[in-house]
Amino acid sequence: MKILQQEVVQIVPNAKRLVQGYRDIGYTFNGAVADLVDNSIAAQATEVRIDMVWDSHHSYLVISDNGDGMTRAQLEEAMRLGSDQDYDSDDLGKFGLGLKTASISQCKVLQVGSRPRGIGHAVDVLRFDIDHIETTNNWEVIRQGTETLPTIASDWLAETHGTVIVWSNLDRLLGGTNNMDKARNAFFDHHRGLGLHLAMVFHRFLSGDERTKHQHPAEFRIVLNGLELDPWDPFATWHEKTQTLTAQDFPLAGVGWGGIVEMQPYILPAKEQFNDPKEHELLSGPKKWNNQQGFYIYRANRMIQSGGWCGLLTPNEHYKLARVTVDFPPQLDNAFGINIAKMRVTLPAQLKDEVKAFVGPIRKAADLAYNAKERNKLPALGPGSTPPPLTPPKRPGVAVPRTTSGTAQQGGLGPFAPWPVATLRETEQSRRRFALETAAKVTGHESALEAILKALASSDERTARELGW
Ligand SMILES: Nc1ncnc2c1ncn2[C@@H]1O[C@H](COP(=O)(O)OP(=O)(O)OP(=O)(O)O)[C@@H](O)[C@H]1O
Ligand SMILES: [Mg+2]
Repeated sequence: MKILQQEVVQIVPNAKRLVQGYRDIGYTFNGAVADLVDNSIAAQATEVRIDMVWDSHHSYLVISDNGDGMTRAQLEEAMRLGSDQDYDSDDLGKFGLGLKTASISQCKVLQVGSRPRGIGHAVDVLRFDIDHIETTNNWEVIRQGTETLPTIASDWLAETHGTVIVWSNLDRLLGGTNNMDKARNAFFDHHRGLGLHLAMVFHRFLSGDERTKHQHPAEFRIVLNGLELDPWDPFATWHEKTQTLTAQDFPLAGVGWGGIVEMQPYILPAKEQFNDPKEHELLSGPKKWNNQQGFYIYRANRMIQSGGWCGLLTPNEHYKLARVTVDFPPQLDNAFGINIAKMRVTLPAQLKDEVKAFVGPIRKAADLAYNAKERNKLPALGPGSTPPPLTPPKRPGVAVPRTTSGTAQQGGLGPFAPWPVATLRETEQSRRRFALETAAKVTGHESALEAILKALASSDERTARELGW
């Protein structure tokens, strides 16, 4: 018998080249932040605070959570591209990449500070710096002291266990420009959109939906620049005229894998059925009514995709009241083609015909609800009564959000309240207020600013208003 000569040759990836490639795997700003919030939920945080601090070239973003935190060894592993990790069947993580790839899609310097639960643990800080990796051509991180963190982050870890993520040198987030006016606009735009996105993507966790209880049993809140996000329920399950149609399960299996895809259709109320036009406007969602019709795809209760018919059908004005939840478990990740950024999926080819048949009657029901003349032929509903679903719902218990009015909370950057206030046009006043509050935060003069404005409000109310108060 002939013996084959062979030898193992190790090819170490070129860090300098690869790190650039990892910056471009398709994250949007919103998607990148959401990927980090996934980590906080997985770490059982009950609160995630996101602070976007505008300071021209030195602007930064901090995501702080009060979750499990990490030991020194765990933190080092977390900084590895492809961290070693065992996942539960409903874990939000999958690749061991998100923390790094999401961060460097927006910034050149990522710092992670962490303190694990329990008494007597110190804070550890590691810095992942693209310039350093490019210079050394090595996958290295730098251990730092807590004094290198922004005060918001070090203060947080002084008070609680948990993790802080700091993004600085925000080349991508600021739109890669040296023009600070443009950069500031990009920063504000991102800030405005982020609240809407997180309120939508994590609405089940924010509203304490029963379905999330096995993943995250406690309450959960996200605070963006001092304002707590209200969940955004795309299905208006709180509205008496929302119709809950029959749910359907779609089993999906292949060799060595399988799972169930669950679909729950809703027909939302038509415009005239809202008492308050603002409620209707809020429900239109980030992409507005026509583009928000269709599938809302959830993986382990976290929304991956909102609206659209996955290429099965085209959006149509007449069907804009139809919205359908599609839930799939992580066991079906491959079938749905989930990628690292977890921002898009495709409907498995195996399901297409069945789903198309399922959607037909839903679109008919949506057309009926849209068409006021036809709708008026339906039996009238008395006050407080619920509309007759076209067919009875199969699964009960879709959570009602804590509130739908979304009034701004006290404190923080008022005019930049997230959903739904963030849907309002940014005014010049709110921009001024944001700039002043951020400058006060950066220089540590928040209480001085507060005192000045109090005095100004009584001496010259008009100017105070012009400044956004
Ligand atoms: N906020 C956090 N709190 C505690 N541990 C964290 C936190 N963020 C990350 N980790 C740890 O770091 C590991 C790596 O995170 P990373 O986001 O890179 O990958 P992942 O979440 O495992 O998978 P994915 O690539 O799908 O996000 C996590 O598995 C977790 O153990
Ligand atoms: Mg992750």
